[in-house]
Amino acid sequence: MLEHLAHQRTSVVLAHGFGAPRILYWGSRLPDDVDLAALCNALDRGHSHGRMDDEDPLSVVPEHARGFLGRPGLLGSRIDGTAWAPRFDERERTRVGNRISTFATDEVADLSLQCTIDLSDVLTLTVEIVNDGTTPYLLQMLAPALPLPRHAGELLTFTGRWALEMQPRRHTWTEGVHTSENRAGRTSHDRPPLILAGTPGFGEWRGEVWAVHVAWSGNHFWSAEALADGRRYVQAGELLHPGEVILQPGERYTAPTVLAAYSPSGTNEVSWGFHRLARALPTSPKRPRRVLLNTWEAVYFDHDTPRLMALADQAAACGVELFVLDDGWFSSRRSDHSGLGDWHVSPDAYPAGLAPLIDHVRTLGMDFGIWVEPEMANPDSELVRAHPDWVLATSGYSSPTGRNQVVVDLTNPAAFRHVFDALNRLLSQHDISFVKWDMNRNHVQASATDGRAGTHRQTLAVYRMLHELRVLHPTVEFESCASGGGRIDHAMLSLVERVWTSDSNDALDRQCIQHSLSLLVPPERMGAHIGSPRAHTTGRQHSLSFRATTAFFGHLGIEWNLLEATEDERSQLRRVIELHKTFRSLLHSGDWIRFDRPDHPDHPDHTVLAVGVYSTDRGEALISLARLASGVATESSPLRLPGLDPETQYDLALLQLVEQNAFGPAVAQPGWVHTGVRLSGAQLALHGIQPPIMWPESAVLLHLRRVAL
Ligand code: GLA
Repeated sequence: MLEHLAHQRTSVVLAHGFGAPRILYWGSRLPDDVDLAALCNALDRGHSHGRMDDEDPLSVVPEHARGFLGRPGLLGSRIDGTAWAPRFDERERTRVGNRISTFATDEVADLSLQCTIDLSDVLTLTVEIVNDGTTPYLLQMLAPALPLPRHAGELLTFTGRWALEMQPRRHTWTEGVHTSENRAGRTSHDRPPLILAGTPGFGEWRGEVWAVHVAWSGNHFWSAEALADGRRYVQAGELLHPGEVILQPGERYTAPTVLAAYSPSGTNEVSWGFHRLARALPTSPKRPRRVLLNTWEAVYFDHDTPRLMALADQAAACGVELFVLDDGWFSSRRSDHSGLGDWHVSPDAYPAGLAPLIDHVRTLGMDFGIWVEPEMANPDSELVRAHPDWVLATSGYSSPTGRNQVVVDLTNPAAFRHVFDALNRLLSQHDISFVKWDMNRNHVQASATDGRAGTHRQTLAVYRMLHELRVLHPTVEFESCASGGGRIDHAMLSLVERVWTSDSNDALDRQCIQHSLSLLVPPERMGAHIGSPRAHTTGRQHSLSFRATTAFFGHLGIEWNLLEATEDERSQLRRVIELHKTFRSLLHSGDWIRFDRPDHPDHPDHTVLAVGVYSTDRGEALISLARLASGVATESSPLRLPGLDPETQYDLALLQLVEQNAFGPAVAQPGWVHTGVRLSGAQLALHGIQPPIMWPESAVLLHLRRVAL
């Protein structure tokens, strides 16, 4: 039995008859009347010597018991070691639109397997296992596998660290397994759950590309294996510690949803799939993204109400719409050594409570937001002193700390209730419309009270707490932060409006971090702040023009002590914010575009990075062109703009975000800058437009608008 799912430019053909469906084809759209039997014959592998007599299908949950010798989709056993290699038979199958659900059982192992495959903007895979037996089943792993064609010969993966997330790496996909395992207990800075494979040399606009993402905020893995028989597959799912999930009779485990995007022409289209998916979520912002000011790098722990009020005055005068009070407002939290976990307003820092500051902010016409870190506590806190056992730690060992903190065991119902009530009280008693939810420590020795690894249950508890708070406070927006970009994934996007991209507000590093993250996250969800002239995490100094142009393309914020800014800087900032407001509906609804830049460091254009947004009707576009470092040629190549409407005529203008420096940092402009230029979409794709000469660490904006008829 074969089935064809088709959506826009993608087709998936499934073969049934095994424990889970087998993806026979996943790629460019096939004709609606494609002869599936002929396709099946065309792709038949034949039968070589050395194989088992029956087929060894690479199904969505590959089964060792059917002769599959790669990594099975399900690993586990009963306590006595039996049921370790189950073989499922399909019992039921339903199809609604492009969604196929199958139900299979193994009556020997006493397990059942459910599988859902749904093709829309991306391919969504969900698998679930149920223990139908009478003894516990020790689950080691349940993770779907996606076969990829052999011409997907190159991998794109990401590494990174705190304050430098999402650094891209290319690899040739050779024999064996390329894998990434994350045990941080959060999505991680260095191992994001995202892998792309494509035809060698694939770029933003060229090559076939397949991308796989695990929508999960705890431990996870992905692997890309090229089998000896030539088949290739990517597998991705939750990484479980030993004994972390034990299914009692009748219990089930649902693996994190795997999202897989395909593009016949480069990675831009892969992003559009992920972005459309994010934009369809209930958390997708319904109103214009409020420009915010976050107090962290402005004041750190030095909370002083009159000074914060003065900062709010300056923020409001610049056009800021949301004032976010970061860490340091509660309990004894005068540094990161104490008070974390005690969610009541500090009587020392705020003798009259938060109300005077909030009222002041509201009177200025801004909304008020607040920082919390609900999953954590300092050992020096009322919470840990009163409940030393409410910590996710392994008894018998001293509990390791990270940033002087321990993890609160939210799998313990009493601890969950305590933290939930405190947050609920905070949101009920104050006029708060935005919460920055932080998480600043890895899970190490994170055992729940039963002594078993607790990350899986803790991750679900965090999801539940966020969900329940959202239900009680439906107008409050949430941001996910984990020491910057340590918890960014599509499961989080279904619970928060915004992610904090990185603790680095260094525009140069941000250019690259945002560039990579835009694969997965649409710009309106991506926090991007204009920091102070000297970046706090790198010590580098950048012009306001470069800082502003870089932050312009996300959910704009300010993280700079405006009381220390000059009058001139503040008036420039006011203009930047004003311009952002005029462009934000385009920036936050259009199709995000990245332009290819030559990989080789000797290429003159290697140091030029261009990104932007095309309106979905292709009537308007805004492009940022950044020079990251000096280039070996005086001029960069003309920027070619594929993907616009070829027939449309566009007026082009170079935009100045910061007035005083007429064309941003450009030191020489081509003729068109002064006279304007009108070009068709076809021309822009073919010969492009010459950018100005730019200093290193600078950026300019190109604006394109359809000529009115
Ligand atoms: C983390 C966050 C920062 C800030 C601090 C506060 O590092 O990433 O943005 O909120 O915590 O302690």
